[in-house]
Amino acid sequence: MTAIVDVNNVSKSFFTGVIEVKVLKEVSVKIQKGSFSVIFGPSGCGKSTLLHIILGLEKPSSGKIIFLDKDLYQDSDEDDRSEFRKNHIGMVYQQPNWIKSLTVLENVAFPLLLRGAAKAVSLNKAEEIIKTLAMSDWANYVPTELSSGQQQRIALARALVTDPEVIIADEPTGNLDFESGQELMTLMTKLNKQGKTIVMVTHDLEYLSYSTEAIEMFNGKVIDTYNQTDKAKLLKKLSLTRGKRTFKSKKNNDNVN
Ligand SMILES: Nc1ncnc2c1ncn2[C@@H]1O[C@H](COP(=O)(O)OP(=O)(O)OP(=O)(O)O)[C@@H](O)[C@H]1O
Ligand SMILES: [Mg+2]
Repeated sequence: MTAIVDVNNVSKSFFTGVIEVKVLKEVSVKIQKGSFSVIFGPSGCGKSTLLHIILGLEKPSSGKIIFLDKDLYQDSDEDDRSEFRKNHIGMVYQQPNWIKSLTVLENVAFPLLLRGAAKAVSLNKAEEIIKTLAMSDWANYVPTELSSGQQQRIALARALVTDPEVIIADEPTGNLDFESGQELMTLMTKLNKQGKTIVMVTHDLEYLSYSTEAIEMFNGKVIDTYNQTDKAKLLKKLSLTRGKRTFKSKKNNDNVN
C-alpha cells in the first residue's frame, strides 16, 4: 500500500501566555491509500489537533505533512491549502454546519458551486449522491428538520459530492444514538470498500472493528498502530474493556498516566 498522508515527526505546541503546552509530540504515522483508518484515544490527547494539521488548518510547530505527494506547509499559503482541501478532501464533523437558508439538496451541491461548477451540474450531482445514500425523500427539506442520524448521512453526501480522495471525519457519530452510529459506520465501510480512503477520529471503541488500520494516541503521541493482521492484538486489548464503552472510561479505570 502507498501512503496518501505521511505525518512526519510532527510536534505542535500552543502558548497560553508564556506557558507552552505540548499537544503533539513527534508524531509519525502514515495513512495508507484505501484504508479505513481510525484514530482513537482519550479526550485531550491531541486527535483533533492532528486532524487539523492534516487538513492544512493548523501549522505544526515542527515536522511535516506530505499529503498526496504535496508538502502541505512548505511553499504554500492558506489559500493554496484551502484550494487543496476543496479538491482532495471531504470533511465530516460531529456537528454539521449547515447553510440554514438552503435545502438539503442545495447544501450538498454547495462544495461544487464553491469550486465554480455550474448550478444545474452541481444540483444534478448532489441529487445523484443523495440517492446513493438513500436520502432522496429528504432532498427538499431544510437540513435541521432531519434527525441527527439523517443529518450525518447528508453531511457525508456533502463530503462526497466533489469525489475527494479522502474523507476525514472527527467524531461523526459523537451525537448519534447507537443504531444511527452503526448505520453511519456501515455506510462508511461501504464507501471504503468502493475505494475511498477514510480517516476517522472516535472515542468509541465499538467502532474500531470497522477499521482496517487503527491508530492509538495517548498524551500527544501515537503509542500504537494496528493493521488487519494486528487485529487480534487490538481485539484482545478491547476485551479488557468489555462493558466499558468509551476509551475515556477505560483509561480512568486503568489509572494510566
Ligand atoms: N488553539 C488551542 N490553544 C491552546 N490549546 C489548545 C488549542 N487547541 C487544542 N488545545 C489543547 O490541546 C489538547 C488536545 O486537544 P484536542 O482537541 O486535539 O484533543 P482531542 O483528542 O481531540 O480531544 P476530544 O476527544 O475531547 O475531542 C487539549 O489539551 C486542548 O486544550
Ligand atoms: Mg477532538
